[in-house]
Parts: sequence; structure tokens; C-alpha cells
Amino acid sequence: MAAVPSSLRPRYPLPTHPSHPIRRHLGATPVSRHGKVKIPEGAETVDVVFINRDGTETPLTVPVGMNLLEAAHQADVELEGACEGSVACSTCHVIIEQKALFDALPEADEDEEDMLDLAYGLTGTSRLGCQVVAAKELDGLRARIPSATRNMAVDGFVPKPH
Ligand code: FES
Repeated sequence: MAAVPSSLRPRYPLPTHPSHPIRRHLGATPVSRHGKVKIPEGAETVDVVFINRDGTETPLTVPVGMNLLEAAHQADVELEGACEGSVACSTCHVIIEQKALFDALPEADEDEEDMLDLAYGLTGTSRLGCQVVAAKELDGLRARIPSATRNMAVDGFVPKPH
């Protein structure tokens, strides 16, 4: 193996790989910079995965009874939630990747349907994250965060009375 000129050597210690002359550590697994969800003692949990806007995945263990918005916020996952779960925006829109798990969810009520109609990139398996509550039958759920959100309240939307 040829010697590496000193000008190309790192000036700080790096993890090494024996076959590489510059001795760099290469890894393909994205580093998770997200936090964790607080699990109350003795709580039942389910595993869910958020698929972030940049395509990285954030696996989380979530206590049964916690909604996806709350879990995302506790773990610093970038899911908005402008109205903090009061079903007055669509910024917590998520797309459930597994149709079977989408079908296992309790049906969206009229308020949620109205807000989903305003969501950016609505799909057949879209839900509001604040309305999806972790339950045992949802173990393994994968929720994709759409590439954008539409917040009508911020964008100047003035609701008309019915
Ligand atoms: Fe506004 Fe879910 S946070 S509807």
C-alpha cells in the first residue's frame, strides 16, 4: 500500500478501515437525530415509523393511546401541527403507507374530512396525524410526511360560517 502524503492525512483521529489508504470510516445508515417518546411506566407500546420529507425514516416506540402528532413532537420529528390537534388545520397530514392499517383505523369524522380536503397532496390513505391514535392493531404503521403542507389559516383563509 502506498504511503499517504502528510498533506492528505486527516489532522484529527478518525475511525479507521484497514483497506483504505486514507483511513476513512464510511457508513450507509443515516444517523437518527431524533429524540424519543416518553413512555409511561407499564404502558403498552407499538412501533411506528415516520418517513420524513427527506426520505429518512424515524422509527419510534409509542405508548398506546398517544396520537401521532404528539409522538412526532416529543421525538422532534418534523410534523407540523399548527392548531395543536384541534382539527382546524391540515398541517399534521400524514399518508399511511399500509392500506390494511389505514383500513384498521377508526373512520375520519366530518371535521377531519373537511380539513383533509384542504391538505396538500391528499391521497386515498391520508389522515390527520393528530387524529391517529396508537393502538395495538396499528403496530408497524408507517406514516409518510408529505413534501409540503398547506396552512389555510396562515395563508389568509377566513372561514365562512355554515
Ligand atoms: Fe391541526 Fe391536526 S394539528 S388538524
